Amino acid sequence: MPTSSNAPEHAPKVAAVICAAGSGLRAGGETPKQYADVGGRPMIARSVKLFLDHPEVATVSVVIGPRQEQLYQSALGEMTSHAKLLASVEGGATRQSSVRAGLKALASDMPDIVLVHDAARPFATADLVSRAIKTAIAAGGAVPGAAVTDTICAIDDDGARGATLDRSGLRALQTPQAFRYADLVAAHARAAEAGRDDFTDDGALFAWAGGTVTVFGGEARNVKMTTPDQFEDEALRRAGLAFLKRGDVRTGTGFDVHAFGSGDHVMLAGVAVPHVAGLSGHSDADVALHALTDAILGALADGDIGAHFPPSEAAWKGADSAVFLADAAARVRAAGGEIGHLDLTVIGEAPKVGPHRDAMRSRIAEIVGVSIGRVGVKATTTERLGFAGRREGLAAMASATIRLPFREEF
Ligand code: CTP
Ligand code: MG
Repeated sequence: MPTSSNAPEHAPKVAAVICAAGSGLRAGGETPKQYADVGGRPMIARSVKLFLDHPEVATVSVVIGPRQEQLYQSALGEMTSHAKLLASVEGGATRQSSVRAGLKALASDMPDIVLVHDAARPFATADLVSRAIKTAIAAGGAVPGAAVTDTICAIDDDGARGATLDRSGLRALQTPQAFRYADLVAAHARAAEAGRDDFTDDGALFAWAGGTVTVFGGEARNVKMTTPDQFEDEALRRAGLAFLKRGDVRTGTGFDVHAFGSGDHVMLAGVAVPHVAGLSGHSDADVALHALTDAILGALADGDIGAHFPPSEAAWKGADSAVFLADAAARVRAAGGEIGHLDLTVIGEAPKVGPHRDAMRSRIAEIVGVSIGRVGVKATTTERLGFAGRREGLAAMASATIRLPFREEF
């Protein structure tokens, strides 16, 4: 095949075509697999971002399926307005025809080098892109190939094992593949003229048209997401990682007492409960929220409620104790952690907690931002023994279980 150019002297202009017009039949999802979630963002968004972020890539053309513009726009979000990104183009029935559509969209741009990448390979790295470009500049065509780790054999039509192939001489081919743009366009035109529409990768088409293709080192992680079990494994792996990242599980305890004083209700776990007396204290005297606040601060090893909200400060006079608990919960989040569970025991003869239990659980859950299933509320009397038994006041004890990220110093 004719070589239209030698390695350009100036910094070469590099463009990328992302193929995302397949229907993902083997993956079998509701939408084509390129729009499926991988670690919190659609696979296509990851693949496109790699090239938009790459300093050597100037233009990106994405090839999508018919009637997928809306899916595409919402998958890419803010990236759709990126200066490097061309308007999407519609692909064809085969990967080869989709690539051709993407190449055509770059015609007015006339890049020196074009990268062709499968949207279904979301784990390729910037280093792989750089090496593809470098190899294509030197060789004309560049294809990443990973060493084969399985034993590979031939089989006959009945599945009987044939010869074992020497895997040291084999490579599993990946994308991004890189070529001199004009040469790849010419190779695609020749294939179309010859009625060939069955090339599953551009390296094979380029070589068929007479071009030289160098295989350079691929990346084991650069898999093509193809089957449902690959998506399930990936989701499990991510969930496991997310869990491990917060594997520093801690428990804290808290305890508080307030004496009864004048009034006709007590504040308990953020709920006004009618009673023959009120609770006296500097703030709203909510023993339950104070015990919970201390439990969380204890789990964080971050002082106690009095250290953060000194009773000597006028600001906290009559304060809604929800402020203290919300602050403790915010400290957990600021440390990159989350609250796993809160448990509260109210100690006293009266008022009865039972009728208000779910209102209290729900209010606590709301203050700290967890679901109600993560909050336990219980109560006990002390069999009329001690200050609580003599109805002189109420006590509360609490525990908090939190998960923090592992850090070096722990
Ligand atoms: N592709 C394309 N146009 C086609 C077929 C495939 O742009 N007509 C793209 C796919 O979107 C994918 C890449 O080429 O990013 C590799 O193809 P493959 O993994 O086979 O994806 P699908 O063809 O979508 O999946 P399947 O073969 O399971 O239907
Ligand atoms: Mg396919």
